[in-house]
Amino acid sequence: MHDVTSKGAAKSAATAMPGRSPNYAALHKRFPTIPYLRNYARRNIPGFAFEYADGGAGADTGIAHNWAALDAVELVPRYGVMTQLPPTDIELFGKRYAAPVGIAPMGGPAIVWPGADLLLAKAAQRARIPYVLGVAGGTTVELAGEAAPDVFWFQLYRFAHNEHAIGFDLVRRAESAGANVLMLTLDVPVRTTRTREVRGGLGGEFRPNARMIAEMMTSPKWLMGIVQNGYPRFANIRTYAGTNAGTNETIRFARREMGGAFSWDEVARYRDRWKRPFVVKGILHSADAEKALSLGVDGLIVSNHGGRQIEALPPPIDCLPAVVRAVGGKMTVLMDSGVRSGTDVVRALALGAQAAFAGKAFLWGLGALGNEGPGHVIDLLIEEVKAAMGQIGARNVAETRSVEVRHPGAFRFGA
Ligand SMILES: Cc1cc2nc3c(=O)[nH]c(=O)nc-3n(C[C@H](O)[C@H](O)[C@H](O)COP(=O)(O)O)c2cc1C
Repeated sequence: MHDVTSKGAAKSAATAMPGRSPNYAALHKRFPTIPYLRNYARRNIPGFAFEYADGGAGADTGIAHNWAALDAVELVPRYGVMTQLPPTDIELFGKRYAAPVGIAPMGGPAIVWPGADLLLAKAAQRARIPYVLGVAGGTTVELAGEAAPDVFWFQLYRFAHNEHAIGFDLVRRAESAGANVLMLTLDVPVRTTRTREVRGGLGGEFRPNARMIAEMMTSPKWLMGIVQNGYPRFANIRTYAGTNAGTNETIRFARREMGGAFSWDEVARYRDRWKRPFVVKGILHSADAEKALSLGVDGLIVSNHGGRQIEALPPPIDCLPAVVRAVGGKMTVLMDSGVRSGTDVVRALALGAQAAFAGKAFLWGLGALGNEGPGHVIDLLIEEVKAAMGQIGARNVAETRSVEVRHPGAFRFGA
């Protein structure tokens, strides 16, 4: 495993874990849980932006299955051990974070709220939780590195043309920008249809029709954000499309240059180039986890892309125990897809994940609360993690792993 900090630095970070935001109590009254943010976001931003954030593949059944699988995991409490709410800090890849919760990489948070990428980065830095900038995101690796120096990770899709010239250049830039972890996403071998995104009007190039224009006009705060920040563009990819490339030119360039399945040979090449912690995202099968381990990969995100690829993929929470059995202890195992509460995070911890990440929850926060959204989602998740740990009698994150769990959906590979 590749460390990025000295032991001393890790220790001093642990003693300075931040608390929740000053406005938490007021926000908590209006939005006591993450689903309230989702309901409000639906009305607060243009319909096409909400459909982009909220919709999945096909008829959204993959999303529903992710939620149902998490809901089905039951934790059996032990009493008589706790006197106060437990600490939530953890270590990932040699670095201390305030909680076992992270922000998953996303391509278009700035569609949901203008300027969102840097809002997410800054909120994560303040709270000291991992923030993963997506290569297709709305800010550059350089700006993300400045905004979140201690917690910044970078996610890459496949740019294979010209011997991976763009992919390798992005890796070089991410390294100079101080990215702590490189994450390769493996679970988008093909482009699939996200039905609500297409129906909302964002299936390809940005060409607003009359309905979309009306939606923008009736979302004044969102529109003001666009006036201040400009329309979202692929900030990292734009550099390669040409200095003056507009949004649609960059979209066309990205569609041409980006995509296809990373082969294991390619994963090995990126592993060789990147000397810091290296993670692959989108693993569901324990044999793929073992393959990644054999190539020297340091960590995995067990994920089905939040139900956005095809609906038939199993919920990651159900694959997690088999993956942990296959590689746990030798790799850092993380999980995402369907996390809507701190209780879901603790379910993932109890089944062997070292931390859980969320995507849509942060977009709902942005859609409902704009600038204050990311901070409130982090606060809710951390408060709920503490409450769930306290309820089951876990005095620290490590102890969540010894709780008795009923897990009806657990997947058995080869059975
Ligand atoms: C709008 C949106 C855009 C996303 N873009 C990316 C991306 O560019 N790269 C990537 O690896 N994952 C991407 N994801 C997937 C997330 O990283 C994560 O796996 C997923 O959102 C987790 O599920 P959840 O939304 O239920 O929390 C995206 C997810 C959403 C909702």
